[in-house]
Amino acid sequence: MQRLPKIVRILAVLSFTLVVVLFAALIVNSFQNAGKPLTSLNPQGPSAESIQQLLIPVTSIAAVVFVLVLGAILFITWRYRERKGTDPEEFPAQVHGKTPLEIGWTILPALILAGIAVGTVMTIINLNREAPNSINVQVAGQQWWWQYKYDLNSDGDFNGPGDITTSTELVIPAGKPVQVTTTSNDVIHSFWIPGLNGKKDAVPGLRSPLKLQADEPGIYRGQCTEFCGLSHANMRMLVRAVPSGDYEAWVKNQLTTRGGEPSDPVAAEGKKVWQALCAQCHVINGINDAKMKETPPPLVAGVAPNLTHLMTRGTFAGSIFNLYEPVGADGQPLPMSDVAAAGDPGAALVGGKVDTANVNRVTLEAWLRNAPAMKPMYPQGGRGMPNLNLTEEQIDQLVAFLETLN
Ligand code: CUA
Repeated sequence: MQRLPKIVRILAVLSFTLVVVLFAALIVNSFQNAGKPLTSLNPQGPSAESIQQLLIPVTSIAAVVFVLVLGAILFITWRYRERKGTDPEEFPAQVHGKTPLEIGWTILPALILAGIAVGTVMTIINLNREAPNSINVQVAGQQWWWQYKYDLNSDGDFNGPGDITTSTELVIPAGKPVQVTTTSNDVIHSFWIPGLNGKKDAVPGLRSPLKLQADEPGIYRGQCTEFCGLSHANMRMLVRAVPSGDYEAWVKNQLTTRGGEPSDPVAAEGKKVWQALCAQCHVINGINDAKMKETPPPLVAGVAPNLTHLMTRGTFAGSIFNLYEPVGADGQPLPMSDVAAAGDPGAALVGGKVDTANVNRVTLEAWLRNAPAMKPMYPQGGRGMPNLNLTEEQIDQLVAFLETLN
């Protein structure tokens, strides 16, 4: 048997160095992103916490095994390298048939894997255990936004008279468990709020459970993590955890309808424009919600966000644009790396007055002017908002009307 040729030794050292550098870069990167909204290493609730409690020991064991195995390879490569004056035909001592050694290196990995398996299975069971007295929300993926339906009376029906349909932002009370069921209205999406829990696919025709709980009030960002077409990257989610009093007020307001005649004449004109052009896809409870419940339902029912309480949301269009300040340059999306960048609806969140001075009119008007230019979509195929060729006057009227939807 030949000793290891030089090229093999060089390759071994190189690949070891490469793996160490990549591993170190990964760890440094994780720490650098620790405060950013999409890090999965900064748990903000019990589900994410239990994932973290599994991740850290498993990664630590893997790191020890990695260092020991590759260290041994490196040491042996160096120790038994070809030297001057040695016989290249010399046969090294063989360990084949040494029973204690063979039993040892079979049992040790089996024990390590068994330990990891027990921890993993226990975590999965814990994550899937339904929390008692939780709020039930059905999350439906849409190209390219999220729809949320709250079963407030827990009767298993998400479309009852006492239930809420909203979109883009999931409002939850801080410190309380929320039992989410993911599903999809078109293709496969994946729901992921890294601060609160792991990923859960949203599959058409399937209903998958996911437990969420935020320990503290705040904004928890997420991003669709299953490629779902043209604007997959523009399909974000936002969880707005609020104190329980605010949540109760939010629920109470969400159950009210809109559609009364606006007192502002410009907004009243805007309502007419909305009914003529927007009501074919969008719903405002109190205007056209009855039509959408017809059997068979209109083709477009449910493919566009319900706008009844639009101004209670801080963001719109799949949570990529702020509906309120702060505003990015030229109305472009703000970088998601900034958690504080989500628009703040202020008092409007709980049905209070809309702070019109803070509304991000630049972006909202640009969206009404030519939505497909703001976010890649297939409006002709019923996927996304079309360019309706509105006049500037119609846009002003529509914005004035939308601003009444608190
Ligand atoms: Cu929805 Cu990717």
